[in-house]
Amino acid sequence: MTRRWITPSRIEGEASRQAHADMPAGTYEREISKEGFFGPAAFMHHKRPPTGWVKFEGPLRPRAFDLAALKGANASPWASPRILHNGATEIRFWKLDAPMPALARNGDGDQLLFVHEGKGDLFCDYGHLAFEAGDYIMLPRGTMWRLSPDGPAAILMIEATNTHFTLPDKGILGPHAIFDPAIMDAPKIDDAFKAHQAEDDETRVEIKKRGEVSVATYPYNPLDVVGWHGELSPARLNVRDIRPIMSHRYHVPPSAHTTFLADRFVICTFAPRPFETDPKALKVPFFHNNDDYDEVLFYHDGDFFSRDNIHPGMMTLHPTGFTHGPHPKALGRMFEQPKPMTDEYAVMIDTRDPLEIGEAASAVEWTGYKDSWKSKS
Ligand SMILES: [Fe+2]
Repeated sequence: MTRRWITPSRIEGEASRQAHADMPAGTYEREISKEGFFGPAAFMHHKRPPTGWVKFEGPLRPRAFDLAALKGANASPWASPRILHNGATEIRFWKLDAPMPALARNGDGDQLLFVHEGKGDLFCDYGHLAFEAGDYIMLPRGTMWRLSPDGPAAILMIEATNTHFTLPDKGILGPHAIFDPAIMDAPKIDDAFKAHQAEDDETRVEIKKRGEVSVATYPYNPLDVVGWHGELSPARLNVRDIRPIMSHRYHVPPSAHTTFLADRFVICTFAPRPFETDPKALKVPFFHNNDDYDEVLFYHDGDFFSRDNIHPGMMTLHPTGFTHGPHPKALGRMFEQPKPMTDEYAVMIDTRDPLEIGEAASAVEWTGYKDSWKSKS
């Protein structure tokens, strides 16, 4: 049934009539909204930054994890630490420094790999696909696969538990905007794949189902297809092939950068884009609580313009209900940016259900993050 929101449209007091622009002088805008950025919303004009607390206590605090500081490589993806998880997803950070000795298979859901560092080759049921930093690789549930990196690799793993990854509807932009589906690559039955088949040794397949790993051992290499046809296959998309939409007069919300969808979460990619040029348009993210979604950001590369003390390989979690917005340094550049473009690549995962924090993540937590909105004088 289509939802009919209770939406009396009002303008009270001194207010702009356009979100993220034309705010009353000296005020700070905070958005209160339903369903991320898709439902009804209100825009408050505060006299002081909405993150101006002097003390923040209790469990509703933002978290930051330095995943780059996690120690130890794992030969199996299923041995890599779970960073965040709930019933709809599982987010792991996997360091791999040698070719996987076994094949992996996810029986729990589609598996997305985001290559943070490293390059090499993927071999799977469907063939061979090279990978490099910045690649998203979507592996349909049940695919047998192995990675053979050329050196150390670091991979963010995101599972669509018990469901599928799909592409967002691009709406009035049309299906070829942001990235053209034709830019996605699929594995090929090429010479590298045939050479991999020729290594026909005993092979273990580590199958994850309901979080537990079972092992099927074959007396040969089961990646032995001579061909296949169909419309289902792994797909690779590099973040450098994303052409973000922007408006010179309006700070578009993160949802405009949606790359993949699952049933209970979305994945967005922040890629370099020009800053807004309209003098009265906001040039930094607006303050909000994101009242319906937990927000996760993984910082891949570049200079993260709205956050202080964040470096590549870090991950932040802003739980539903926590007010956030630009850090103090960025807030000073609310209407004027020194550079013409942003220079950041980041992966955002917004989940409709609350996330739990894995033990390994706690070990690399930056506990001072909750205080990072305090202005430094
Ligand atoms: Fe947010």
